[in-house]
Amino acid sequence: MSVAKKEYKRVTVKSLVEMKQNGEKISMLTSYDYSMAKIVDAANVDVILVGDSASNVIAGHETTLPITLDQMIYHASSVVRAAKRALVVVDIPFGSYQSDSKEALRSAIRIMKESGGHAVKVEGGDEIKESVKRIIGAGIPVMGHLGLTPQSIYKFGTYTVRAKEEEEAKKLKQDAKMLEKLGCFGLVLEKIPAKLAQEVAKSISIPVIGIGAGNGVDGQVLVVHDLLGMTHEFNPRFLRRYMNLYEEMSSAISNYVADVKSRDFPSHEEQY
Ligand code: KIV
Repeated sequence: MSVAKKEYKRVTVKSLVEMKQNGEKISMLTSYDYSMAKIVDAANVDVILVGDSASNVIAGHETTLPITLDQMIYHASSVVRAAKRALVVVDIPFGSYQSDSKEALRSAIRIMKESGGHAVKVEGGDEIKESVKRIIGAGIPVMGHLGLTPQSIYKFGTYTVRAKEEEEAKKLKQDAKMLEKLGCFGLVLEKIPAKLAQEVAKSISIPVIGIGAGNGVDGQVLVVHDLLGMTHEFNPRFLRRYMNLYEEMSSAISNYVADVKSRDFPSHEEQY
């Protein structure tokens, strides 16, 4: 059942602002490969995020830090080939935009040129102001990301809820306003109190997409492998699982092994 207020043949950064204005919630989901992105796109997800969470869910790293720009471009180009309707946003990975704004622009240009993605996402506020300014100045749409920013995990020390204290909440609000002023088309808020997230969403005109940020924001994002229950060891409070694909897949694959061992597969009808 669709509860879209307006049909979009192709979602653009402008469509997202329009959705916020019309009070239509925005759906966003990660994808890292062609086959998954095809399903996600056909299900009318508005934004596909080629997240650097690929570092965790695809490559098995503990953090998002090791994934490289070349690897992100590979994932993003696969997703872009599948996306017919969704806006494709690509994370600029750790180490490809923090040193200086020229490096940031070079990385963003490589993503846009080599993957065909439609926009980039960066983590942080005031610290990366010059980079955001320069990328937007080159005509590349930028999405911000505040709150729990996994690329800074070694600074935080843990993946617990951010901005519970007044000082951090104040900085987050200032950073959100600053990113809006610089021309970001949207903002992800990760793992912060719902009340604060709602306040931020109300205070700026660009769409705010939450993950673990409550229901008072303009849209929601999840990692698709978490939503499908493929990553069964990850159980944060904010995660709603719509399937237990880990069990479904394990059982299917065990059945295949048993069928091969017992010579049941392939059958007479399954051979030439
Ligand atoms: O990399 C990612 O998947 C993300 C989302 C969690 C927002 O940044």
